[in-house]
Order: sequence, then structure tokens, then C-alpha cells
Amino acid sequence: MSELRKNEHKTLLILEKLGGRNPVAKIVEASGLAHAAVMRAALTLSEKKLLQIHEQKRTTITLSEEGTQHAEKGLPERRLIRALVKLGSEATVEETVKEAALERDFTTIALGWLHNKNWVTMKANVLKTSKEPPMGFDEKLLNALYKKGPILIEGLSRELKDAATVLKKRQLIRMDDRTLRRLELTDAGLEIVKRGIKPVEEISQLTPTLILSKKWQKVKLRKFDVTAPGPVVYPGKIHPVQEIIQMVREAFLEMGFTEIRGSIVQTAFWNFDALFQPQDHPAREMMDTFYLTQPKEGRLPREKFVEAVAKTHENGWTTGSRGWQYKWSPKEAKKLILRTHTTAVTIHHLAEHREPPVKVFSVDRIYRNEKLDYSHLAEFYQIEGIVMDKNVTLRDLIGTLRQFYLKLGLERVEFWPSYFPYTEPSAQATAYVPELKTWIELCGMGIFRPEVVKPFGIKHPVLAWGGGLERLIMLKLGVDDIRFLYKNDLGWIRRSPVCRQ
Ligand code: PHE
Repeated sequence: MSELRKNEHKTLLILEKLGGRNPVAKIVEASGLAHAAVMRAALTLSEKKLLQIHEQKRTTITLSEEGTQHAEKGLPERRLIRALVKLGSEATVEETVKEAALERDFTTIALGWLHNKNWVTMKANVLKTSKEPPMGFDEKLLNALYKKGPILIEGLSRELKDAATVLKKRQLIRMDDRTLRRLELTDAGLEIVKRGIKPVEEISQLTPTLILSKKWQKVKLRKFDVTAPGPVVYPGKIHPVQEIIQMVREAFLEMGFTEIRGSIVQTAFWNFDALFQPQDHPAREMMDTFYLTQPKEGRLPREKFVEAVAKTHENGWTTGSRGWQYKWSPKEAKKLILRTHTTAVTIHHLAEHREPPVKVFSVDRIYRNEKLDYSHLAEFYQIEGIVMDKNVTLRDLIGTLRQFYLKLGLERVEFWPSYFPYTEPSAQATAYVPELKTWIELCGMGIFRPEVVKPFGIKHPVLAWGGGLERLIMLKLGVDDIRFLYKNDLGWIRRSPVCRQ
């Protein structure tokens, strides 16, 4: 029989005294040893088949802050239905919400659940119910949590477990997983204790005194188990999205581009007018563009630029175009917005840097009034680059883009004709993703039209492209819901590999 160390010995004796299966915490308490010390002893003892470690997953449910609030006042849909019954079982949505004194934030959710739970019928804004419905399992669980505090999910009935899933989705509860470990002596372990064993003294640290006195030759030195799991360490690291942004920057820099950054708030002039987008262009409407309410208007650039842009829109000015044939309004152009693309920054930069060559890029946030879902955000990143030089052509643009995306790991890139009001010709680049066996859109591209460059006195061709960044990131990180990138899920951030050194 191999020898036992002090802590192992102690653990065995306590287990024998307690009898049966005992949680680790109980042994920690009885022995006065640290939790880690008991676990280490238990692992060694279980390797020697003297004890068995029983593991059990336990999930504890706790109320979230919002959950507590609802447990106190009732779920918002419950408050609505109560109010409705009080109003005589028929009332408009507004009346019911008012009667229930429901907070604005909860109204839409509450109406949704009223409908989901089939508690009311609704016709043209009038809610109707027959009587107040009985308490659902979700409400029962909320109440129990409120009264008794955290509950283990394992002990719940099927219905309550289902209710827990729904409440979790509504973010009214939290679920925390824990592993409960219990220790139990095996027959062999019991026998050893009965026979009466003595622990061996082991030295875990070799000191200068031990060496000088030559005592080290007599004592028993503790062996290291190099396979034993150590504590997990999560050192600080850069967010995976920032890492990829940095990769993109490096790709541009290696190709000789310089980074530019501009203001998030732009006048419609730089975002739209300067890019020859007519003032009645649908993209300008409130649905797509965020307009500032305070302050509403910004300053237009120098008169010369404004006049040239105005005339180009109205009749083409000296650009050879007929323009859009309408009366251009400076008021519309002064409106302040959150930039809907970084091309606003590009054209502004070009207007101030007319001497060739200009090779600049930006990786920056843009804003669009989109409904959020798995593939849309209202605030996201755009990669944008331009090359302005004597005699550059569409071929140069295609070559540059191929090279750029190759640096980001996309080998098969193809180009298709497309349309943008500010480029001619216009194209779009797509890339084949072998892992997904599908093509994804990379960016829009083209050569700025004379209507765009001439008003600013730019004399040479401008190659431009701009595209989304999040899609590339999702691909690289294997994420299929764009919202996930900004959720700050610590587990995911910790697990995601560090791509760069
Ligand atoms: N600005 C365009 C977009 O937001 C992309 C683009 C940039 C197209 C430059 C052509 C030239 O989609």
C-alpha cells in the first residue's frame, strides 16, 4: 500500500467519521483545511481508489433586478389585465395602461404578452377580456423566488422548469451553474482507515537550512503532479473586435495608405450633397438617417464649394452632366446628422487635399436607423479607402481590393456591376467563403463621378471603396448573430483566441 500524506489522512478519517457521501464544504469545515487542499487530497485519494468523487450539476435561479420589481408589482401583463377588469373588461390600450400606471418601458412588452398568453382580444386599439385569468407558472415561480430567495432548478416540476426558461429569456431571472462535489469512502478506503494508518511527513519546500544541514537526504520530498489542473488565469486582453480592426489597419498601412478620421456628426452637405445625392434621395429620410435635434444645423464650407455643388445638382454646372434638375436648398444641406457612411469623411478630406497622390483609409463607426436583428445594427463599423492619382483606373481599384482582402484571408474575390449615385463605373465586391460554401458581400466601389470631384477642384481620378466590417469579423470569429460582438459576454471574450501578437 502506498503512503498517505497528512491532508489525505485527515480527509479519510473525517469521511469515515461522517459516513456516507459528504459535500466538500462539510469536510473543509470539519478539517479546518482550505477548500483547495481538500480537493487536492480528494483527487489523489480517488486516483488510489480510496474514495469516490460524486459530481452533480446544480443550477440556481435568482431574481434579476427587473424580476424583483415585477415580483413586487406583478408582471406588466398582469397589471394590465387587472386594470382592464377594473375598467369593466373593455377599454382602449391607453386607458388600460393609464389605469395600470404602467411604466412606458414595459408597455410594448406587456401588450405582447397579453396577446401571447391569450388573455385579451384586441380590435382597433380596444382590449377586451372575459375575466381575470388565473396565475401562470411563470408568476408562481416569480413569487416563490421573491419569498424564498434562490431556488435550485433541479427540484422543480416540468411546468416550472419551462416557466424558468421563459423568465430567463425575459431577463427576469438569472441562472447560475455550479458543480456540487460530494466525497465518499470506497470499501478499500474504509479498510485502510480501520487498519489504522499513519500519515507520512512530506516536505513540499526545500529550504537552504535543509540543504546545509544535509537533512534533505533523510526527509521525504513531495512529488509534483504536473498533470494536475492549476487555477485558470484570465489576463487582460484586447477585445476580439478591436483585434480585427487592428488587423485591417495593418493591411492598409502595409499597402501604403494613411489613416484619416473625421467627425461622427456631419452636415448633410458632406454626407450627401457633396456626393451628388439629390436632396429628395430616399436614403436621407428619417427612416434611414439619424438627424440631430439639438443643434439642428451646422455650417456649410466655403462659398465656392457650396455654389459649385448647388449648380451641379441643379443643372450639372460645368461637369458635362444635366444634374438632377431641381432647386437645391442650402437649408437641407446644413442639417446635422450622424454620418451614414465614412464616404462623408473621405470627400471632405479630398476637398482639402487636392494634390495627387492621396491614399487614405478609415475604419470607423457609422450610424443608420435600422431595426436591430441578427444581421443588422444601427451603429457599426465601415472600412473605407481611396486612391487619388494621375491616370489610375478601374483595374488599379480591382487590383488594390484583391490585394487588400487577400491580406485579410479572403482568396476568392469577384466583382459585379453595381450602382452608387457618386461613382461611375460602380461595382461591388463579393468573396467566396469556403467554410460556409457561400459568397458574402464585401463592399461597394467605384470611381468618383465628375459631379463629385469637379466642384472641389479635384483633377485626377479617385478610386473609392467602402464596406462593412462586422460581417468579416463574424466570419473570422465564427459568430452568427451580429449583436453578439458587442454584448460583452465575458465567457466568449475569454474563450476567443488572440489572433495577433
Ligand atoms: N458609401 C458606400 C456605402 O456606404 C460604399 C462606397 C464607398 C461605394 C465608396 C462606392 C465608393 O455602402
